[in-house]
Amino acid sequence: MKLVFLGPPGVGKGTQAGRYCEHANVPHISTGDLFREEVRSNSEVGRKAQEFMDAGKLVPDEVVVEMVRKRLAKPDAEKGFVLDGFPRTVVQGEALDEVLEELGMKLDAVVSFDVADEVVVQRLSGRRSCKDCGALYHIKFNPPPEDGKCSKCRGELFQRSDDEPETIKVRLVEYKEKTEPLENYYEKGGCLVRVDASPKPDEVAEVVRKALERPTD
Ligand code: AP5
Repeated sequence: MKLVFLGPPGVGKGTQAGRYCEHANVPHISTGDLFREEVRSNSEVGRKAQEFMDAGKLVPDEVVVEMVRKRLAKPDAEKGFVLDGFPRTVVQGEALDEVLEELGMKLDAVVSFDVADEVVVQRLSGRRSCKDCGALYHIKFNPPPEDGKCSKCRGELFQRSDDEPETIKVRLVEYKEKTEPLENYYEKGGCLVRVDASPKPDEVAEVVRKALERPTD
């Protein structure tokens, strides 16, 4: 299936996209991860994106759209994908429609996750990620091994610099102003599925899987 996972920072899009993509064997395309990779390699895109990311602001639409256009044109996206963190503005949503049309593709569904702002702050301030494989942990809800290394690949864990309380506030404001209007955009298009992301990850994953089941599955 060709899917978009939508929702505020820290709602659990990455956690759920990772699970769904493993189950469905399709690529997990996270624009946040793609940008962090570009920053690490000090590319032109990375240099353009870094100051926006550090401030908790959205990277300009044209930079994001170009990056996603190239990623979706890769052969592994033909069989399906989950877009995590893209689109994030109505302009990006319209651009995605154009890119998909050029590629002869169509979205099957947009899953919109929601939790209260206090939960977002709690989830983001305790998040730890693996530097090598990207696995996600939470110091309270999904604690890493005692030695502080990734249980999957033994990589080092780190805390994202944009998970500071002040930056989280800016990210939430950006979300409400620029990304929430997309819910309306997709609701009108008839492909929006709303999911309460407050239960445990396994329970949320089950709701997502059921909501996306097709009669033939
Ligand atoms: P990005 O990396 O996409 O960040 P985000 O959208 O803010 O989302 P997060 O990755 O912070 O959270 P998530 O919802 O994936 O939650 P997670 O699963 O990790 O973007 C970063 C920046 O890049 C942006 O600010 C912007 O500058 C730029 N950018 C990216 N895309 C862009 C675009 N399209 N346009 C413009 N700019 C763009 O979970 C969080 C924590 O909670 C983890 O610790 C996890 O273990 C835990 N957790 C998850 N689910 C549960 C649960 N059910 N119960 C308890 N704990 C849970």
